[in-house]
Amino acid sequence: MKISKHWMWLLGAAGLSACGAGGNDPGVEYAPNMYHSIPYEPLSQITDKSAGAWVNSTDTEGLGEYYSSNPNNPHGMNMREPVAGTVRRNKGYLPYRIPADSLEYAGQVLVNPLDSTMQDEILADGKELYLTFCEHCHGGKGAGDGLVAEKYPGVANLTTPTYANHTEGKIFHVITHGKGNMQPHGSQISQGDRWKIARYVRESILGEPTN
Ligand code: HEC
Repeated sequence: MKISKHWMWLLGAAGLSACGAGGNDPGVEYAPNMYHSIPYEPLSQITDKSAGAWVNSTDTEGLGEYYSSNPNNPHGMNMREPVAGTVRRNKGYLPYRIPADSLEYAGQVLVNPLDSTMQDEILADGKELYLTFCEHCHGGKGAGDGLVAEKYPGVANLTTPTYANHTEGKIFHVITHGKGNMQPHGSQISQGDRWKIARYVRESILGEPTN
């Protein structure tokens, strides 16, 4: 059979318009049960009560199979927002609140919370983290001779007497907030890992304390 050119156009246009998607409407779906979960999804919410009514297989109390909103929550949300003032627990650490300009204070009051019976593991992890985050500036042994320091002089030589009395708290604070030309690393390195680096730097990089 020969289909005229006009019919081809018309069929094509009708075919394409059937696939139209927009907003929350995904358009025609192939094997829709693969996309729509029956339980509530925390991060997707379908508010149209008749959504998927055409595939209703079980008793859905008159609601479409894909309807997934929780009418008991504000805005029908599936996942409640945490209570105002909730603090995210970062593997047991509370947010670090000592301000950037309080280096000396941090050095006096902070105590490394890591379990010292795990010293070997802490130092091994601390070394790996140091080589990842610090070595390119401070150098493998802390002498301020990393590759970046070759181009941008002024990186602290941590093996000199100037830093010999730095406490782990002080190192933690410097890693968190940075200092001078050293940028903060608080958002890149977790608190636990920062304490591991501080332990490693104190034990294996800095000189013997004099007081
Ligand atoms: C981009 C280069 C760079 C990186 C990466 C870097 N530092 Fe620094 N660091 C510096 C510079 C520059 C200084 C000198 C800051 C100043 O006093 O102006 C410094 C200073 C320090 C000091 C001395 C602070 C003081 O009390 O004067 C410590 C301790 C330190 N860094 C530790 C670290 C540790 C640990 C890391 C890895 C987590 C690290 N740094 C990563 C550039 C860097």
